[in-house]
Amino acid sequence: MNVYELMPELIKAALNNDRKMLESTAIMISKKIRNKYPEVSKNIIKSLSMNRAFTARSLNSQVPVDHESRYELANIKEPIDILPPILNAQTLKKINDFILERNSINELLEQDILPPNSILLFGLPGVGKTYIANWLASELKLPLITLDLASSISSYLGRTGQNIHSIFEYAKSQNAILFLDELDAIAKRRDDLGDLGELKRLVNVLLKELEECSYSCIIIGATNHPELLDNAIWRRFDRTIEIQMPTESERKSLIKRHLEGYIKLFMPETLDYLIKNTNVVNAADVCKLCEHIKRQIVLNKSSDVNIIILEEVFALNPPKSKESKIAICKNLHKNFPKLSQRDISQITQIPLSSVSRYLTQRKENE
Ligand SMILES: Nc1ncnc2c1ncn2[C@@H]1O[C@H](COP(=O)(O)OP(=O)(O)O)[C@@H](O)[C@H]1O
Ligand SMILES: [Mg+2]
Repeated sequence: MNVYELMPELIKAALNNDRKMLESTAIMISKKIRNKYPEVSKNIIKSLSMNRAFTARSLNSQVPVDHESRYELANIKEPIDILPPILNAQTLKKINDFILERNSINELLEQDILPPNSILLFGLPGVGKTYIANWLASELKLPLITLDLASSISSYLGRTGQNIHSIFEYAKSQNAILFLDELDAIAKRRDDLGDLGELKRLVNVLLKELEECSYSCIIIGATNHPELLDNAIWRRFDRTIEIQMPTESERKSLIKRHLEGYIKLFMPETLDYLIKNTNVVNAADVCKLCEHIKRQIVLNKSSDVNIIILEEVFALNPPKSKESKIAICKNLHKNFPKLSQRDISQITQIPLSSVSRYLTQRKENE
């Protein structure tokens, strides 16, 4: 298409309020006239990036509400500074790349490149998806508009399509990040035959809204159940990033971050044991465990900090069979030679006589 043929497209897009079309047509025009009218071409790009600044939140704008119940449909949080999520290097790089691209919009537009505007985070519960959305808001200094689909679908089924539409309209009018948490809620309900028609309609509403979002509106989706997500929804996201369970070195960083100031109170062996034996839980539980340990340390001043920690770690995954009870007692005895049999009994809640028997068995076998 030449520039003249693009004009009607541009006008149509403006009249239809179709920002995505408007922006991509404007970029095409700017590209085509760059050699002949470099200044005009630059001005087009400038107005595209200015437009972003002009969409800054006006404090008067109302958060959309459900028409019948009048409940606010989304939760809005101003960005606050939080520490970076603890992730493996590749995952963190993908997220940092997105931040870099979003912070380099003008540079990209000048090269006729559209920045990415959507990310889908998927992974098991408690790996930090919601945290990452908050961190992105903090890094990009944008408010986070959260739409929790799990709760909005169940409470407003029947009006959810309209509600999703108003949230997107609202998000598009703000300079903010729209966070679609528990995105699979839409898909999950598809199993429920009674709701099939309604949910199909919802998926279509969501697809249309995602499709129409221009680069200026950032969308983050999160799901614990990627396998339930509609393929078409999946494809609408520019980036899909799997967030994995924390490895040993990530657990070490999480623990060091959360127990900062307390680590000097216990033995290095205890720290190692804590890091190794939290392999059964996700990042959120590692953080919760550390907070719990801190409370215990503060409230039980007379107790040995090492024993407090070993007790808490033991409670994460108590052994079921006699063999594993024996193994744990032996393991504690080997790693912490200073622990008495009474200490081991306190940590494991196994009667002292049994502990004693398990440990002498070991000696006999040797
Ligand atoms: N990768 C991580 N790095 C740092 N903190 C984390 C991480 N994952 C979880 N957390 C902590 O656990 C809390 C709960 O995690 P959350 O983001 O709600 O997990 P998800 O949304 O994946 O279920 C977070 O607020 C944060 O304090
Ligand atoms: Mg979450």
